[in-house]
Amino acid sequence: MNIRTVLMTISLALSIVIGLALSRQNAGNAGASGSNPADGAKLVVGLSLDTLKEERWQGDRDRFVAECNKLGVDVKVEDANSDDSAQNKQVEALISLGVNVIVIVPHDGTAMAQAVEKANKAGIPVIAYDRLIKNCDLDLYLSFDNVRVGELQARYLLDHLPTPNKGRIVRIYGAPTDNNAKLFKEGQDNILKPLIDKGDITVVHEDWAENWKPENGKKITNAAITALNGKFDGILASNDGTAGGAVQSLIEAGLGGKILVTGQDAELAACQRIVAGTQTMTIYKPLKTLAAGAAEAAVTLAKHRPLIARQSVNNGRKDKGDVPAILFDVIAVDRDNMCKTVISDGFQKRDDVYSGIPEDKRPKCP
Ligand code: BGC
Repeated sequence: MNIRTVLMTISLALSIVIGLALSRQNAGNAGASGSNPADGAKLVVGLSLDTLKEERWQGDRDRFVAECNKLGVDVKVEDANSDDSAQNKQVEALISLGVNVIVIVPHDGTAMAQAVEKANKAGIPVIAYDRLIKNCDLDLYLSFDNVRVGELQARYLLDHLPTPNKGRIVRIYGAPTDNNAKLFKEGQDNILKPLIDKGDITVVHEDWAENWKPENGKKITNAAITALNGKFDGILASNDGTAGGAVQSLIEAGLGGKILVTGQDAELAACQRIVAGTQTMTIYKPLKTLAAGAAEAAVTLAKHRPLIARQSVNNGRKDKGDVPAILFDVIAVDRDNMCKTVISDGFQKRDDVYSGIPEDKRPKCP
């Protein structure tokens, strides 16, 4: 799918979201008095983030706050620093403050159900942002197609192995507490399994990177290099942070640029590694679209106005069925399409991405 198709899909999804009737509006929330905005009072959105340590989430925060401000709404931001009990307390504090809607990026998609229940009781709508929260009553889940992220990563890796569709690979999964990490793995498995079953692809080392930390990506790669004497063809890293750790380990072992490494998020450092040749690809997720969609949905829910989502996702909740969801599309990026994706979309600047490359060797990026 090219960038234009992706953007068309996104704008279509957005136009469907906004202003239509929500078939499955959370009955507990509708009509609850706790969060009904007083006439003329400025609406306040609570944004609870797992962490602000990664470029990805700083970008989400900035874009989400900007989009909310454009809609005339204030945002109270909380950062839990990857601590479940802190995040639950922060959401409780947002409830006590009487915010009109809460948007949550959970550290642990199961642990956050507790705080969501409290918000439900207080009549405050809740949106799960990017990561699903399990076994609780959500008003909306807004994310990207995370299974597709994993499929694109694995497809790219297989296509670009020294012998396509054959070889020995290392797999670095994300945080086991993050539902997305499981979805990325599921997508990767969809593509890899037939070839693993045939014996053409061998997973020679695999592990989960706790809290998505780059140092854990590095540790996993160090262990693989030691155990296998560096004899593998590719690293299927689930995001750019863990890819960064893997690349560091490869460079230290004299293998930088010699082994394929995947990623996700189109972080600046990853884009720089891609054009330098030490990381092979990333997945571009247009965060502006997610943030704009979440801001529109948050304000609509805060006003108890009707809203529709054309997709739905099972989060294990009982009685109310699947959670209404909006899942945006993503695009695989390597050095060949860097200009016409992340740069032309204004996600990263050409001068930043190519800062390590002499001007006469940089593409023009029209
Ligand atoms: C997000 C990724 C991110 C990862 C680590 C996932 O839930 O979808 O974009 O790289 O968390 O923060």
